[in-house]
Amino acid sequence: MSKLYGLVGYPVGHSLSPIMHNDAFQRLKINSYYHAFHIEPNQFSKAVEGLKALGVSGFNVTIPYKVDIMPLLDEVDSLAQAIGAVNTVVNDNGRYIGYNTDGQGYVASLVQALENDSLENKRILIIGAGGAAKAIFYTLAVHSQKPVEISICNRTVEKAELLIKHCPTHVPSFALSVQEAEEQLERFDVVINTTSVGMSPNIEETPLNLDLLKPGALVSDIIYNPFETKLLASAKAKGAQTHNGIGMFVLQGALAFEKWTGMFPNQQAMEAIVRDSLK
Ligand code: ATR
Repeated sequence: MSKLYGLVGYPVGHSLSPIMHNDAFQRLKINSYYHAFHIEPNQFSKAVEGLKALGVSGFNVTIPYKVDIMPLLDEVDSLAQAIGAVNTVVNDNGRYIGYNTDGQGYVASLVQALENDSLENKRILIIGAGGAAKAIFYTLAVHSQKPVEISICNRTVEKAELLIKHCPTHVPSFALSVQEAEEQLERFDVVINTTSVGMSPNIEETPLNLDLLKPGALVSDIIYNPFETKLLASAKAKGAQTHNGIGMFVLQGALAFEKWTGMFPNQQAMEAIVRDSLK
């Protein structure tokens, strides 16, 4: 029997998840279909009840519902609970269980970008203290390759302080203002932008001045539209290695796909279809 998966969000019209997942279903000859559901905020809980009543096999959750979905589920796994957001729901014999694959997708993609190097002994600076920053910070904090430092800088420094305070991490972490981060930049081996600053159409914006970037540092941006943000272009101009958000998007999807089907899809094929769709 064919199975139905989907995405709930508002808006979802530009989402690349349907083509990415449907292509993976076809490649693996899995008789399933993935549909993007555009759900108005006042219909959200009714829509989720409907999906559950219909018995859909699983779904992704995107903006603005990653927090609102949590009380509507039968169970939320511990990492998603700690992060406080769910992006993937699995129907486990009628019980709907929430997970968060955003942080794991990002960190797996970062580890791939580091190639033969490791997160161990790295000093990491995260720019931003919103939902994406939290998923990445928490996932890095529990990673088997333990960084030496994971600090956060944010326009509103109090939000960075709160994020660090609530995470039970043993990795040294400091909340920095943007100016402090710019002044202390030489210390960091990996710099990660988790804000939307620099995203299309505001491609001339950049969240941090990289003048004092450490030689050999890696600069990463969770944005993938454009492929190369102004932040990444200025990092590249300084000879730094750069890493954009395509890998995070693909791997959060691949990890969700694996939870639904038990099969890990072809990452290269998924990335190719996303790149083609963005052209
Ligand atoms: P997400 O869930 O995508 O992370 P969010 O929770 O709204 O989104 O968080 C957005 C992050 O981007 C925040 O860290 C925000 O900074 P503030 O906490 O100071 O609001 C940051 N951000 C958004 N627009 C920004 C801008 N123009 N300049 C600097 N930081 C910005």
